[in-house]
Amino acid sequence: MSSEDLRQLFLTFFINKGHRLVPSSSLIPADDPSVLFTVAGMQQFKPYYTRAKDPFRDIHLSLGEPLQASNVVTCQKCLRTTDIEAVGDESHLTFFEMLGNFSFGGYFKEEAIALSWEFITNYLKIPTERITVSIFGGDKELPYDEESYTYWKRLGVSDEQIISGNRETNFWGPVGEEGPCGPNTEIYVDHLEVWNLVFNSFYRHSDKTLEPLPLKGVDTGMGLERLLLVTQFPNQSNKTVFETDLFSGLMAILQADSQINEVRNLRIIADHLKSSAFLISEGIKPSNIERGYILRRLIRRILRYSELVNLQDNYLEPAIDWIIQKYHSIYPEIDNKSLILEVLSDEFSKFRQALKKGLKEWHKIAGELKQKNILVVNGAIAFELYSSFGFPLEFLKEIAEEEGMSIDEEGFAEALKKHQEISRNSQEKKFGGHGLKGEIQNTEENIKIKRLHTATHLLQAALREFFGSTVAQQGSDINPDRLRFDFSFDRKLTPDELKKIEAWVNQRINDGLVVSFYETSLNQALQDGALGLFSQRYSDQVRVYEIKDPKTGRVYSKEICAGPHVSNTSEIGSFKILKEEAVSRNTRRIRATVG
Ligand code: SER
Repeated sequence: MSSEDLRQLFLTFFINKGHRLVPSSSLIPADDPSVLFTVAGMQQFKPYYTRAKDPFRDIHLSLGEPLQASNVVTCQKCLRTTDIEAVGDESHLTFFEMLGNFSFGGYFKEEAIALSWEFITNYLKIPTERITVSIFGGDKELPYDEESYTYWKRLGVSDEQIISGNRETNFWGPVGEEGPCGPNTEIYVDHLEVWNLVFNSFYRHSDKTLEPLPLKGVDTGMGLERLLLVTQFPNQSNKTVFETDLFSGLMAILQADSQINEVRNLRIIADHLKSSAFLISEGIKPSNIERGYILRRLIRRILRYSELVNLQDNYLEPAIDWIIQKYHSIYPEIDNKSLILEVLSDEFSKFRQALKKGLKEWHKIAGELKQKNILVVNGAIAFELYSSFGFPLEFLKEIAEEEGMSIDEEGFAEALKKHQEISRNSQEKKFGGHGLKGEIQNTEENIKIKRLHTATHLLQAALREFFGSTVAQQGSDINPDRLRFDFSFDRKLTPDELKKIEAWVNQRINDGLVVSFYETSLNQALQDGALGLFSQRYSDQVRVYEIKDPKTGRVYSKEICAGPHVSNTSEIGSFKILKEEAVSRNTRRIRATVG
């Protein structure tokens, strides 16, 4: 099924079930100063969940008339940069479309769950063996979501297929500082999360207290690109969203022009071209603040990655043509080819100029530091290069590496934070005080995420050290708060074993092991003995990350992984196991964090 048909099938299904079709809102939220972009389909309906607005009486901003419905359906364009480092893997994107059905006062858990099941199993005909679901398992403050459990069971979903999660994994929202939120239940197909059903039950205030909502609501979101992946390529673990028809034509244009077919880099370019084109079509211009800053960052990344794969600028026009043609009938606002190309080229040339000047300055600084035997560029210097010449952090790291040096990333994050606080204070009035929060968090979160990634490799190494090489990774998930590692093992680990594993990882952190990577073919990587995730979808060229003791030469870990990672295990700080539990009969899960 094509993306066009799949999108339409979803919308028609819910229209036939009594939902009003509402057009996607803009990527720029109309009346929500707490976030820069539309990151979820529910944003345009936020006031109905709280009853700040009445769907039958008040004007809905994008329609110019009241919704006249308490059940609605949308296909919403979204932009998220929180996962920008993961773009290029199987399923992460900055621009994506979210299919969603919403109810404020219409129906609640039972009907929402039944509708989603009917769509997935009857309309898409996805066999139930490929499906698992998760539900909120409860915590100190909130109860276990027994109703969702009951409704899934009633539909024939077995206990084996139902996983319970916690506040991090199965409680969604709010968008921004405050707003509606609630427990959720997620649907996974082929182990990929595709649909998130949120049961809005509370209003979370900015002091984090939860107040029950007067009226319970449903907010669901399903990534169109992911759904397309699992429907176009059922059970095919080597495929990614970039092979679906929402990307394949664009990838072909890039591949035809590129001298170096480094797939991951091309995917990043393809994704960022889409997000930039949509942002420009909504009137955003590159700048140093807020939305303009995000656009600038996306465009500069396009240029950097284009250089890495030797792409000349002439791919831009056919690529933008393709994007406009693919999306214009669904999002009519994306039609201004000349404006999009002009903004891209203009920013490219600004960045090229800055690069030239900045590199000169950098070579001077690097020479001076080396003379003093200093090999770590401190945060303030790195930040200066970033703010004066617009060098993104990843670029700074690359040029430092070329000189055998590294960047003090924490120092950089601190300098950035200080700068953004000053900038935010001066813009407090205009932007309600929330302006740059997302980006500050991003940089800090990116660093934390690297620590967690490397800690995950150490955790796997520890498990194999203690239990032998039959322990194999089954899955992993990282967010800024914790890592989650699933592995094959047929019994519960004892508290003593967990303590020993934790201590082993902490010892490797204290040893200050060097983390490095090389790129090679998938075959070669496997021949080199690198561990990979069996069900993972890899491209032909892969990265192999090694964790090695520089003193003894002992390699503790060798894994195929796209990163990102720290460059020395000492950067992880410390490692703590939070929880060990069963995922299924032969699979255990460890959640852990770093400090
Ligand atoms: N708001 C939820 C999400 O974005 C469900 O739509 O995942």
